[in-house]
Amino acid sequence: MSRSPRVVVVGSANVDLTTFTDQFPRPGETIFGKDFHLGFGGKGANQAFAARRCGAEVTMIARIGDDLFGQATLDNFVSAGIETRHVLITPGVSSGVAPIFVDSAGQNRILVVKGANDRLSPSDVDAAADVIREADFVIAQLEIPLATVFHTLELARSLGVRPMLNPAPGHVLDFDRLKAADFVIPNETEAETMTGLPMSDSAEVDACARFLLDKGLRQVIITLGANGSLHAAPQKITQVPAFEVTAVDSTGAGDAFIGSLACFLAEGRSESDAMSRANLYAALSTLTIGTQKSFVTRDRFEAEWAKRS
Ligand code: RIB
Repeated sequence: MSRSPRVVVVGSANVDLTTFTDQFPRPGETIFGKDFHLGFGGKGANQAFAARRCGAEVTMIARIGDDLFGQATLDNFVSAGIETRHVLITPGVSSGVAPIFVDSAGQNRILVVKGANDRLSPSDVDAAADVIREADFVIAQLEIPLATVFHTLELARSLGVRPMLNPAPGHVLDFDRLKAADFVIPNETEAETMTGLPMSDSAEVDACARFLLDKGLRQVIITLGANGSLHAAPQKITQVPAFEVTAVDSTGAGDAFIGSLACFLAEGRSESDAMSRANLYAALSTLTIGTQKSFVTRDRFEAEWAKRS
């Protein structure tokens, strides 16, 4: 292709306060955690960061608080080479924060305080229509108001740009409003929340994907952690295998998958090739602690891909 992939992310930016612990306190109890890590996160910002690290030109549309975390978030976007013209500082509200707890198996539990993310409005997105028009993909998640999410999907489609929705955190949604999205990409828990269907084995995962297609969704990708990912389109359902790694922190792996997937698809790759690469990109992110800090460069990714594919 003659130009770099272009990705716009309409979504959240948080500061992640990650505690590593083998146990969780009971009500009224105080216990010691093992370690603490402060880093940049937020599903939107993480996806923007992953797409950028893979080589895309990325614009972030977001709101941050007028506080220390907000300024630090802005500086982090700038040093990553992410366009921040549409990152708006919002007085009188905190930046988004996420206390995260990671257990000894690398599994995480996340609490999000939305703060300024909850002020991102449809008119903020309209103000960026010129950038959206030039993008290959626009990605949204659910850490901003739902009205803004639906507006983003519909605006992108009306401008001829491919919208992607990561319905995270899990939420019951009006399926009709999701028909604008080219790809809806939940993980297993989010798919279960959206559909009310169980997801305990591969037959149930297939049934859930078919249910979503029957509701009129164009394409569904369900991320399955250590089991890879599944692509469902009206013509067929394809399982794309995972790459084996020993995870130390899986936080942000779903975001690594989605941001890298947008870049790989925008490079003109098929869904199954792009998903296989995104599976590896996400797996590599679990090898080190943190979210954005654990996302590898394109060169490192290519070296691993050459070894493992
Ligand atoms: O998906 C991981 C992200 O969820 C974290 O970075 C946290 O900020 C929450 O948004």
